[in-house]
Amino acid sequence: MSLDRFSRQYEARTPRSKALHARAVKVMPGGNSRTTTFFDPYPFYAARGEGARIWDVDGVERLDFNGNYTSLILGHAPPEVVKAIQEAAALGASFPAPTEHEVRLAEILTQRIPSMETVRFANSGTEATMNAVRVARAFTGRHKIAKFEGAYHGTHDWVMVSVTPDLALAGSRKRPKPVAGSAGIPPAVLKHVVVLPWNDPDACEKTLVREADSLAALLVDPLLGIGGVLPPAPGFLERLREVTARRGILLIFDEVISFRVAPGGAQERFGVRPDLTTLGKIIGGGLPVGAFGGQADVMAAFDPRGGRGRISHGGTFNANPLTMAAGVATLEALTPERYRQLDLLGERLRSGMTALLRRLKRPGQVSGVGSLFCLHWTKKRLTDYRSSRPEDPGQPLRVFMGLLNHGVLLTQRGLGCCSAAMAEADVDGFVAALEGVLQSD
Ligand SMILES: Cc1ncc(COP(=O)(O)O)c(C=O)c1O
Repeated sequence: MSLDRFSRQYEARTPRSKALHARAVKVMPGGNSRTTTFFDPYPFYAARGEGARIWDVDGVERLDFNGNYTSLILGHAPPEVVKAIQEAAALGASFPAPTEHEVRLAEILTQRIPSMETVRFANSGTEATMNAVRVARAFTGRHKIAKFEGAYHGTHDWVMVSVTPDLALAGSRKRPKPVAGSAGIPPAVLKHVVVLPWNDPDACEKTLVREADSLAALLVDPLLGIGGVLPPAPGFLERLREVTARRGILLIFDEVISFRVAPGGAQERFGVRPDLTTLGKIIGGGLPVGAFGGQADVMAAFDPRGGRGRISHGGTFNANPLTMAAGVATLEALTPERYRQLDLLGERLRSGMTALLRRLKRPGQVSGVGSLFCLHWTKKRLTDYRSSRPEDPGQPLRVFMGLLNHGVLLTQRGLGCCSAAMAEADVDGFVAALEGVLQSD
């Protein structure tokens, strides 16, 4: 089935969203404040969520495998988190002073993540990676950073490089060229960002060693999350750890997404200790959040005592009490049993989809770890950004729109996640919906 036909079906079911979007375009460019969630002809407008489900303003119910881009690990409106937010809000939304909630969340995170000796809070994953990069430069006195082709780390200039580069501009696979990921990024940025190929340890080592004297940090999403949840090959993260330690390059794990795969995140799951870690999404219980932390001697640059802080890190809403309280309630609800349950749901979903694709003889594959998964429309062996590009570039969006019409919300590129509010029947419902979409495609 064509995208046009899926879009017409979608429009027929979402007249209120269409009307809201018509109002929105008069006051916002494209009616939009969040590029990621926009799709043509217009996004549906959310009315409410409960558990594993989300309802739009037209009353259409969908199973939510997007989870606000993997943030809602307990599902929508979990009672313990709602209660924590209500109680905190009743005492005041924000103050020009810290609260006990902040101390509690910092204690929980540093207990769960041994490499995170100290931590600071911000309002987004973007701010977290921006500050981690800054402190790495301050600590090492070097100015370049390295990142992987296909990796997303937020929207500041230093990381909006080679996120989804056009391969015509991106150079060779082993030595990718930095490509600006947005208009408005100055050419000077590209001179300070070194791009590496995911899962190619020899090529990475060569480049890291060549650039070592000017490299402050290597920024790594251990699962290449938004880049398609492509897990590291055995030994890959260990090799990156070894090379960076040897050459005095700080290793930053960006666990904004991957933190959800174990109580201590991907670094616990893979047994590799970074120097710094950035967090976001699930640690705010659905509210805006970011955090960055790690080795105490590196983080000491932020210590303002006695006026000695070398980095000033302000932020009107940093560590606001609502977010901190929601984060504490969420992490307290995430018991080892919950992680086991999430892993089982993820495994059931991946094997269900894989069996379906095989039965229907479709050139698709499913990658993932724990509760995270990504659908890929290629027959190539999945290793990195380049190998995971869809053979038919229109297929991910067709599947996304088809699933919307079959009562399932995914992300447009095929990334998804299970939440602790889901049951096996929900996961099986996803597979049935995908079958419906593929049969009509
Ligand atoms: C790995 C990673 N880092 C950073 C970010 C940016 O986080 P935020 O959207 O909160 O700025 C994201 C967002 O998806 C992410 O996946």
